Amino acid sequence: MSQWKQNKKILFGISGGIAAYKAPDILHSWIKAGCEVETILTKSAEEFVSPLVLATLSKKHIWCEDDFLSADKGWKIPHISLTEWADIFVIAPCTASTLKTCADGECSTLLGAALLANRKPLVLFPAMNPNMLSHTETQENIKKLISRGCKVVDPDSGLLACGYEGKGRLPSSNIVNEHIWKELFPKKDLRGLHVVVTAGPTHEYIDPVRYISNPSSGKMGYALAKYAWYRGAEVTLISGPTSLMPPVGINFISVTTAEEMYNACMENNSTADIIIMAAAVGDFKVEKEFSNKIKREENAPLALHLVQNEDICAKLGKMKPDGQILIGFAAETQNVMENAQKKLESKNLDMIAANNVLVDGAGFQFDTNVLSLIMKNGKIEEISGTKDDVADALLDFVVTKRQGL
Ligand code: CTP
Repeated sequence: MSQWKQNKKILFGISGGIAAYKAPDILHSWIKAGCEVETILTKSAEEFVSPLVLATLSKKHIWCEDDFLSADKGWKIPHISLTEWADIFVIAPCTASTLKTCADGECSTLLGAALLANRKPLVLFPAMNPNMLSHTETQENIKKLISRGCKVVDPDSGLLACGYEGKGRLPSSNIVNEHIWKELFPKKDLRGLHVVVTAGPTHEYIDPVRYISNPSSGKMGYALAKYAWYRGAEVTLISGPTSLMPPVGINFISVTTAEEMYNACMENNSTADIIIMAAAVGDFKVEKEFSNKIKREENAPLALHLVQNEDICAKLGKMKPDGQILIGFAAETQNVMENAQKKLESKNLDMIAANNVLVDGAGFQFDTNVLSLIMKNGKIEEISGTKDDVADALLDFVVTKRQGL
């Protein structure tokens, strides 16, 4: 569990649409992450989701319309004290009517008054029928809110409860959460920068049903892409085949072979401020891929003639534009530091993350990692922990390097 999520205070507004049935799941995921949650329900939301469910999950009183202008809970006026207490205000689902309330500053309800009193980051998740969403009135309200600094997250597309197929669904709790974590993440030091990350293995096909690969899960690269996005960067993730969901908010390029990864890297090189080569790129491919499945002949061995793939990292190192930071990973099983140092120099890198893949809890497949970061100036930093924590720590060093410290 990431330490920085602990004790974050989330004010959760739920308005009355069918997507409110997802609200307990969203709330529960925040509690599991170590956050505190106070909840405001609109009158119509009470029809869709039970305050008892939300109170049980959050272990707190749920603020309903009857609490507005009531002395029952003491002298503290809920719409003022809740917004003062919160680190962030999230409305999910946000109906067309709540969007309008918010855009107009209409404050005759508890949620409306809280929205007007709020000075904390506000994240809205509109969810409604596609016709209501695309209506000029709704779109103008969204534009108005964005221009005032609110974050309005685009709804998902799919089959809606109203029977329409289209845009208007409340995203699932893991997608909602990524937007919240980004908003709450304290460091924004990669804002305005383009970060390119490669991740996962490559598949080098021998014939239509067989390939040469390695056990890379892609977890380290995906964590780096996610944390670079949290820190405000525009992120491009070039990924070989993995079983992971593409991280939210990033430009995702799916590739299969080292050659495809090479092409995607070259296309993104000129605009990249930082490139992190976390992929386990296949070094070899068969000289000529068989067009049909190779048949096994009894007791006959099969010899494959392998040729080298282009070293993407070394090529990027040769072409490195002024000011760009290029970081490599070194997956090693012996003479780790020595081999990594050689790669740092031969590929013209600014930093290399030496990874002894034989260490327990490090490298392929694990959720944790142990890295020695070797800098161009010879400094060495050891980092370990979950791949999320390691990604965050590695990016700290990238930022320090950019600041020329
Ligand atoms: N790399 C690359 N293109 C390749 C092979 C590797 O860009 N064809 C990158 C990796 O993404 C990593 C770095 O180079 O950032 C080092 O990769 P690694 O597999 O550790 O080393 P290699 O250079 O392939 O050398 P060797 O396999 O002989 O150790």
